[in-house]
Amino acid sequence: MGDDAARIVSVKNTDAEETLRDATLRPKRLEEYIGQKNVTDNLRVFIEAAQRRCDALDHVLFYGPPGLGKTTLAGIIANELGVDLRITAGPAIERAGDLAALLTNLNDNDVLFIDEIHRLNRSAEEILYSAMEDYEIDMIIGKGPSAKSYRIPLAKFTLIGATTRAGSLSAPLRDRFGIVSKFEMYTPGELSEIIRRSAALLNVEIDGASLMEMAKRSRGTPRVANRLLKRVRDFCQVKGEGHIDMEITEATLRSLGIDKLGLEGLDRDILRLIIERFGGGPVGIDTISAAIGEERVTIEDVYEPYLMQAGFLHRTQKGRMASPEAYLHLGLTPPAGDQISFIGESPEIGDGETWT
Ligand code: ADE
Repeated sequence: MGDDAARIVSVKNTDAEETLRDATLRPKRLEEYIGQKNVTDNLRVFIEAAQRRCDALDHVLFYGPPGLGKTTLAGIIANELGVDLRITAGPAIERAGDLAALLTNLNDNDVLFIDEIHRLNRSAEEILYSAMEDYEIDMIIGKGPSAKSYRIPLAKFTLIGATTRAGSLSAPLRDRFGIVSKFEMYTPGELSEIIRRSAALLNVEIDGASLMEMAKRSRGTPRVANRLLKRVRDFCQVKGEGHIDMEITEATLRSLGIDKLGLEGLDRDILRLIIERFGGGPVGIDTISAAIGEERVTIEDVYEPYLMQAGFLHRTQKGRMASPEAYLHLGLTPPAGDQISFIGESPEIGDGETWT
């Protein structure tokens, strides 16, 4: 049961891989894209200005938790610009030559999307500097005394980088993006619109109450919302029901171990560990990772953002702490007021996603 739920939440596939599999649900135009209004309102202007100048859009960096539609929006930008989109990911680029091959195949105004750009290796990253700034790269061909350096001109392209950890990007790379946009979690209202749209595309009928219930339990994330919808649709189909109602929705969520606020087994395991084994914290992330048996980066990037947003977890300089609300959510009694020490004592540490 826990494993099924984990698959709903966790993001083992990269955004880029999922783009290919889930192409039908992804909006193709800016007007179809729901939410992230701050991001899309600005982009609309920048896209139109670039088009009027017949120029490439400036390089764009998207950052924020996984599953919030960064790859989707990159696809929309290419579509709106009427240019080709090439998709890759930081870990997929093993050698500088791999990146050079991608760059030299771009045409004017094309978009190159690099997911997980914070995981690009050093030599590939260095190639990007001159590619982004001067639209040229220096390649050394050959070895030893006969090695020669060649300057290769590139088309004027747009790089769109996406990352869950803006703080992990080196300053020289970060500074080469002219447009930097932060993705926020979606409201239940926005998520219910996304689910309504997806249900129509999947040809399933769904009532308003079920829409809202799924939205509330999707941890602010369209990817989770769409996966939930598909699982509820499965239950609906197997039960031979014509449309999705609250009974089927509740039954599906129950069997996936997803609670009223969208927490799944692993979220509750993290909170329970902090509360029951470490008196509510503070406890180090590596200790949590070892005890839970989940990679540190997965806990940090996938699970913690929602636990913090929901007000259940605090990241402090001394470690992670569970809030009184977390105790109550798990049906436990929070410690008396004078034993709750995190407020005002250990400032929250940054989530590595902001800079000014
Ligand atoms: N599917 C995934 N993200 C979406 C969004 N922001 N708007 C509409 N559909 C989506």
